[in-house]
Amino acid sequence: MTQDVLTILGLESSCDDTAAAILRQTGDAPTEILASVVHGQNELHAAFGGVVPEIAARAHAEKLDICVEEALAESGVTLADIDAVAVTAGPGLIGGVMSGVMCAKGLSAGLGIPLVGVNHLAGHALTPRLTDQVAFPYLMLLVSGGHCQFLIARGAEDFTRLGGTIDDAPGEAFDKTARLLGLPQPGGPSVENAAKLGDPKRFAFPRPLMDRPGCDFSFSGLKTALLRARDALVAEKGGLTEQDRNDLCASFQAAVVDVMAKKTARAIVAYLEESPKEPLLAVAGGVAANKSIRAGLETVCDQHGLTFTAPPLALCTDNAAMIAYAGLERFKSGQQDGLTLVARPRWPLDKTAPALLGSGKKGAKA
Ligand code: KG4
Ligand code: ZN
Repeated sequence: MTQDVLTILGLESSCDDTAAAILRQTGDAPTEILASVVHGQNELHAAFGGVVPEIAARAHAEKLDICVEEALAESGVTLADIDAVAVTAGPGLIGGVMSGVMCAKGLSAGLGIPLVGVNHLAGHALTPRLTDQVAFPYLMLLVSGGHCQFLIARGAEDFTRLGGTIDDAPGEAFDKTARLLGLPQPGGPSVENAAKLGDPKRFAFPRPLMDRPGCDFSFSGLKTALLRARDALVAEKGGLTEQDRNDLCASFQAAVVDVMAKKTARAIVAYLEESPKEPLLAVAGGVAANKSIRAGLETVCDQHGLTFTAPPLALCTDNAAMIAYAGLERFKSGQQDGLTLVARPRWPLDKTAPALLGSGKKGAKA
């Protein structure tokens, strides 16, 4: 193997997806994803209304080896071809993070290759560089069932957090809305589909924190408003019609779209103070799949002269390709960890930003 070819294995196990991926970088060419395997755990947690940390950790411990074997088979490389192993070392549910870190340590020691610990959030935040070779500095909005924050990405380990949620993540709010209305999980797609047939103006739901300066979010009040509107309809008519459900979903989604667009506009103003040469907003996380949210963000980007980009959905949601890529960036800058690497439940990307409140059903949001 020539010196400028790097093949890296990535592992992810910080929440409810066990994943392994193999990436290859050859010189300055775009990094190739040779394999990306993800095993979800939805069915294991379905009965509990959220991720059960101990069940998740056990499932990760069982599935990590299988994921690695599948990734090797899919990529056609052997363990002997792997130059380094990258692993999510936090933030996340600690049992799961430990399972991944122990597996990676075993591979590193057994194969005699470097071990690189990766911040899960850095994995998400660097994905636009893997998929679109985006240049620093860019603005990132991370919105999923577990995350919600604006970041300015300046370097592989240099992030400034401009704001985030002080309570729930937006994906949680979509999931809760679906539960309250008897729609299937995950709630995001169910609510989005119902909203297409509804009237977004029928219910005047609050736009939380809109009057407060800055770009922090809050979603718990919106959930409560929806619950009250639902209960009022049930008390009045004895139940909900399909139209009521659609209107509730449309009005809820309209509130989320409005808040996200407004807060994004504020984050963009702060980001543009850096005078980036090629201003760009990237969005990632499961909630980025929502077409109305995307349209709202694209409009704001157009208004401010920013390019808008979103990685393909499979790389927006939790996966190990993003971890391998973030590991590759760290490794290339001369950094690696030894067998003393620790698993961290909390690990803010921006160590200077004040701590956010909130820890949702998917664990600490760092
Ligand atoms: O990134 P992800 O797969 O997992 C983590 O949260 O880590 O995001 C899943 C979340 C769920 O809460 C789901 O309801 C939400 O993303 N989601 C959506 C849509 N598709 C998925 N939310 C709004 N609209 C959607 N179309
Ligand atoms: Zn994630």
